[in-house]
Amino acid sequence: MNRKPLIAGNWKMNTTTGEAVSLVTQMLPELERIKDVEVAIFPPFVSLAPVYDLLAYSSVSLGAQNMHYEEKGAYTGEISALMLKSLCKYVIIGHSERRQLFGENNEIINKKLKKALQAGITPILCLGETLEHRQAGLAEETISYQLKSSLGDIPGIEYTVIAYEPIWAIGSGINAGADEVCQIMDVIRKTIAELYGKAAANSIRLLYGGSVNNINAGEYLSRESIDGALVGGASLKADQFIGIVRQACQTGI
Ligand code: PGA
Repeated sequence: MNRKPLIAGNWKMNTTTGEAVSLVTQMLPELERIKDVEVAIFPPFVSLAPVYDLLAYSSVSLGAQNMHYEEKGAYTGEISALMLKSLCKYVIIGHSERRQLFGENNEIINKKLKKALQAGITPILCLGETLEHRQAGLAEETISYQLKSSLGDIPGIEYTVIAYEPIWAIGSGINAGADEVCQIMDVIRKTIAELYGKAAANSIRLLYGGSVNNINAGEYLSRESIDGALVGGASLKADQFIGIVRQACQTGI
């Protein structure tokens, strides 16, 4: 199955517009030299337009960290797919920080996925279990529940990207073992095959996220069932991020 590797850099609520522009300017020449890997960066909303200009005609894609499921209206502080579609190829949906800090549930996530795909933006759906669930042996059940309750009736599901991000591994410096991650990737593909058939399950790219850095990235990127990484902290450091992208290229996933 020919799934192009994807390395996505989620900057979260970091960088002023000036810092965002300078980070992209620093990384871009080197990122452009690395072939056969797709790279996408996710700066804060206010930096999307200036970063879009910098990335124009480059091989690096742009994405947003969130969006609302309505197109427009009285939703103070929100941004819609309609507003993002001229700038962004990707949008992150259902990141655990959105679920935990901003009350996003699987029903809201389902609406966002549908709206993103309708607008022609590729959603990166984030899933992951808590430490309590992992320790209780409930990781696989949690992931399959999150999938089943957020993926109902989605036209164009095969264009979705899914990021498995165990919550205990995000920003903690404790990355999940590659074997553990592969087990979950198998559960994800199996669940999607049940819901939408084998062809959809085989075409969806599965990323791992949670304390990925340029030292441990190769452990994941060398595995056949892992198609890339969603990188937080390390995507804010030019040398680290470039190092991760290089490993995706070298391992030829
Ligand atoms: P981290 O974040 O790489 O800093 O752990 C990953 C994420 O939240 O997407």
